[in-house]
Amino acid sequence: MLFSYHNPTRILFGQGQIAALAQLVEPGARVLLLYGGGSIKKNGVYDQVIRALAGRAWWEFSGVEPNPHMETLDKAVALVREHKVDLILAVGGGSVIDGAKYVAAAALYDGDGWDIPTRRHTVRRAVPLGAVLTLPATGSESNTGAVITRAATGEKLPFLSPAVQPRFAVLDPDTMKTLPERQLANGIIDSFVHVCEQYLTRPTGALVQDGYSEALLRALAALAGSFAGRDDDLWRANLMWAANQALNGLVGLGVPQDWATHMIGHEITARHGLDHAVTLAIVQPALLRVRLEAKRAKLEQMGRTVFALEPGADLAERTIAAIEALYRSLGVPTRLSAAGVAGPDAPGRLVQALERHGMTALGEDGAITPEVARAILTQAL
Ligand code: NZQ
Ligand code: ZN
Repeated sequence: MLFSYHNPTRILFGQGQIAALAQLVEPGARVLLLYGGGSIKKNGVYDQVIRALAGRAWWEFSGVEPNPHMETLDKAVALVREHKVDLILAVGGGSVIDGAKYVAAAALYDGDGWDIPTRRHTVRRAVPLGAVLTLPATGSESNTGAVITRAATGEKLPFLSPAVQPRFAVLDPDTMKTLPERQLANGIIDSFVHVCEQYLTRPTGALVQDGYSEALLRALAALAGSFAGRDDDLWRANLMWAANQALNGLVGLGVPQDWATHMIGHEITARHGLDHAVTLAIVQPALLRVRLEAKRAKLEQMGRTVFALEPGADLAERTIAAIEALYRSLGVPTRLSAAGVAGPDAPGRLVQALERHGMTALGEDGAITPEVARAILTQAL
């Protein structure tokens, strides 16, 4: 095991914590409030934020779309430069927070912003940012990652940089009260797959990372099992914290990681517009079946510790079935055809996009070549 661990995001968790922005944000700060399509105006979050910002110089930029577009975000970059903003405050879900990360990095870079997700530019500096989370799913509020879409070419690519990790994140579960059922299901699935990407690889004997991964997976499975009781403060708090912990870097420390489900899923969203979590629910069971032998030991461990399945020669297969059943129990499709992506040509086009983006050796051991990706997508039809 070899790693360096530093998580510099201060988290303020719990009901009423948005008011704490008044202490978190310096009195002399020049703030850009960045948000999405307006859900925060309907549920009172916007009002709470501007109340807490009273006395600061602040501007706002709205209209960051789900799977945020670089073209939109570049307009916010111009505002940051014009007003010499020194804090970007993202108020929303993963798309708004990812968008803020791009804006924070692009504002201090003179070249083409697309150089950031394509990694032609390595982000070492960014305008400081903070987050008020309204949709628990991505973990973006306390990690270094962001995923950006270029609408002009229909490409969606991730980048990572410690410079864009939020300085603070406010996690008030009350903000979730207006979330549609679909986004709550998405949040459970995205978080579940985040843990799996860092856990379902090969045995490493990393007792802490495995044990905490299993605790998170059990918690998420329990939240799926009690989905009918989701209008409950504790249910919301548990999902918000589990989603954060699933992708704040901790469970992946020093262990092999997969992320192929995510990279293939991003291509599906870019091309067909499906929600991020829906792509994961479609790709992951197919990937696990195609990569069964490489992942058998960890699948068996997960079957025992997360789903309490009985031992047996087909334990790994039954674990995959249990994962898929969990997604279906939330009403989320687990096949491309069920999600409206029809036609035998779909896998071929998606594999071409992966190749164009250099994603030709995915997975924990680089074994997911374009040919294997095609087998996974064909299995997912
Ligand atoms: O735009 P508004 O009006 O706010 O509406 C949003 C949006 O339509 C709505 N919403 C958010 N909070 C709400 C609410 N509606 C009612 N009440 C609330 N409290 O939900 C819709 C979806 O929001 P979005 O931010 O797109 O969802 P999510 O948080 O799932 O983010 C998905 C994006 O994050 C990326 C994905 O690829 C995708 O682009 N990811 C980012 C990661 C990271 N930074 O670490 C990792 C993930 O694996 C993921 O790839
Ligand atoms: Zn994800």
